[in-house]
Amino acid sequence: MKILFIGDVVGKPGREMVRENLPKLKNKFQPDVTIVNGENAAHGKGITQKIYNQLLEWGADVITLGNHAWDKKEVFEFIDEAEHMVRPANFPPDTPGKGMLFHEIDGKKLAVINLQGRTFLPPLDDPFRKARELIEQARKKTPYIFVDFHAEATSEKQAMGWFVDGKVSGIVGTHTHVQTSDDRILPEGTAYITDVGMTGPYDGVLGVQKEDVIRKFLTGLPVRFEIPEQGRAQLAAVFIKINKTTGLAEKIERILINDDHPFFQ
Ligand SMILES: [Fe+2]
Ligand SMILES: [Fe+2]
Repeated sequence: MKILFIGDVVGKPGREMVRENLPKLKNKFQPDVTIVNGENAAHGKGITQKIYNQLLEWGADVITLGNHAWDKKEVFEFIDEAEHMVRPANFPPDTPGKGMLFHEIDGKKLAVINLQGRTFLPPLDDPFRKARELIEQARKKTPYIFVDFHAEATSEKQAMGWFVDGKVSGIVGTHTHVQTSDDRILPEGTAYITDVGMTGPYDGVLGVQKEDVIRKFLTGLPVRFEIPEQGRAQLAAVFIKINKTTGLAEKIERILINDDHPFFQ
């Protein structure tokens, strides 16, 4: 089974990058399933029903979220019906939406789990114990399990990688918006990367207009962060290949497409 995962899509520039490049990436990597982190897809903050539908239309199979999941209030109106979307599983019980789903491909099931870290992020239930609980549930149904761990601290992400090594097919970090170069297959067979990186404006700060962020650092005052509508953009992703029998990873490959790292087809 082959998985393509696209890191945090930021605003219109990020969405346009998905629309333009996903067909080319599918052509090159032939993924069985494409997963997209959409927590910043609506102008950097949250996701709307229209954008959710668009991402699926453009070729995504599953959408994951993160700490920005709730920024667009309309999410509460459609998240329970959004079959192909997961939000972090370690929000308190009774939170709308779901933290794990099973995506079916040719009679096989891929479990997709979304978790959120709690180091330098608002307090939530323990993502480690939640991971253990959901992986146990998932393994009763399938050996193919993918985790998007949305977290700030590299230490928390690495620790989670080791914690689930051999128990899931792949675990990728999201949220910090900068791709790390530590993609590897851990000793027990789990594909891992600390952060996939961001899909969106290339000449900003983590996708935000650079002037806004510089002003914030210069003044310490509250600044409204805007997403530049124009200008260069990038796409960050990973490709993971899973062994059919064991459900463990055979390969993980980083993908970064921007003017300094052009796409080779
Ligand atoms: Fe993000
Ligand atoms: Fe985030």
